[in-house]
Amino acid sequence: MASTSSFLILALFALVSLQAIASDPSPLQDFCVADKNSPVLVNGFVCKNPMHVNEDEDDFFKAANLDKPRVTNKVRSNVTLINVMQIAGLNTLGISIARIDYAPLGQNPPHTHPRATEILTVLEGTLYVGFLTSNPENKFLSKVLNKGDVFVFPIGLIHFQFNPNPYKPAVAISVLSSGRTTTTKSNLG
Ligand SMILES: *[C@@H]1O[C@H](CO)[C@@H](O)[C@H](O)[C@H]1NC(C)=O
Repeated sequence: MASTSSFLILALFALVSLQAIASDPSPLQDFCVADKNSPVLVNGFVCKNPMHVNEDEDDFFKAANLDKPRVTNKVRSNVTLINVMQIAGLNTLGISIARIDYAPLGQNPPHTHPRATEILTVLEGTLYVGFLTSNPENKFLSKVLNKGDVFVFPIGLIHFQFNPNPYKPAVAISVLSSGRTTTTKSNLG
């Protein structure tokens, strides 16, 4: 039992120390609304002709219903992420937003965003959150957050959120410093 958990902790530390960290590159123009249908492969997405972009659905706007509760999955949470895949204008801008729903005892399990710092605020309920610092400190920082509280998960560090309340759901909004916190490997994939 003890050896299993120390193995798991070691594996986690190994993961933390191996990961690459990099920010989204800064834009060289006003915007570069992603043309997701282009066959051209570049680092990111190629830009739509700026004359053909508008304020309607998917360039700079999305009727995302982020005010509405979500059905939760098998770990009793649901991350509704609005990044470049939902709003093409987020391409190159280095920012995205998510609504996270947590059922009672739900969790957003440990994960990292190699290119994004995350700032989270609790809209409803209570969350127990934390992150692990990298080598050599390997410190665990955690906190119970109440409605209105704000917490920061630094770029690249493994972090999680858990709703410790067995009766009430929780809701959070997170903003991330990358437009592509989940990535497709290429423009075509
Ligand atoms: C998350 O919520 C969305 C919107 O309500 C829903 O379509 C999706 O199926 C949910 N995901 C899971 C894993 O339940």
